[in-house]
Amino acid sequence: MNYKIVPLISEEEVNKRIGEIAQCISRDYAGQDLHVICVLKGGAFFMCELAKRIDPGINVTLDFMAASSYGSGTDSSGIVKIIKDLDESIEGRNVIIAEDIIDSGRTLKSLTELLWSRKPDSLEVCTLLDKPSRRVVDMNVKYACFTVPDQFVVGYGLDYDQKYRNLPYIGTVEFERKEDFK
Ligand code: IMP
Ligand code: MG
Repeated sequence: MNYKIVPLISEEEVNKRIGEIAQCISRDYAGQDLHVICVLKGGAFFMCELAKRIDPGINVTLDFMAASSYGSGTDSSGIVKIIKDLDESIEGRNVIIAEDIIDSGRTLKSLTELLWSRKPDSLEVCTLLDKPSRRVVDMNVKYACFTVPDQFVVGYGLDYDQKYRNLPYIGTVEFERKEDFK
């Protein structure tokens, strides 16, 4: 399968936008504690860059979870399995989930339902990228850095076949044949 990576959002633009979203979060949670949950592996780069930019006057704590949605290639199946659960209880806490991208919305729908059952005080979603054109379930996303078109994207934590997570910018994977992107 032949493809190339074409730059879409530069490192400077991404970092600037993360700074803006971190400012919104700092305003919204002023005077409160905040627990940020990273969805591995894709959300890792984003969570670090976001957390660093939140007002240091807010007590920010971190936890990690990993979920896999079974599927092949560039499509997700909607069956979400928890591979790594949280280390700490979220009961009574203000929680933000940091995700790399919301595509069909199935992964986050399933994660938010699970996390709500653990009785946090509040639960919001903060995503680096939002691809609303592919949504199949209703998802309420409070913080989204960028809306991206219906193209497969990589970099800044996002992978194609586990590769390109380390790119400091966001690029699209341009396939030679349209059929390779489902
Ligand atoms: P959803 O359940 O369809 O919303 O899929 C969410 C997960 O699929 C994301 O957390 C990513 O790990 C992966 N994913 C969806 N779209 C892309 C993409 O364009 N590039 C890389 N990963 C993606
Ligand atoms: Mg992900």
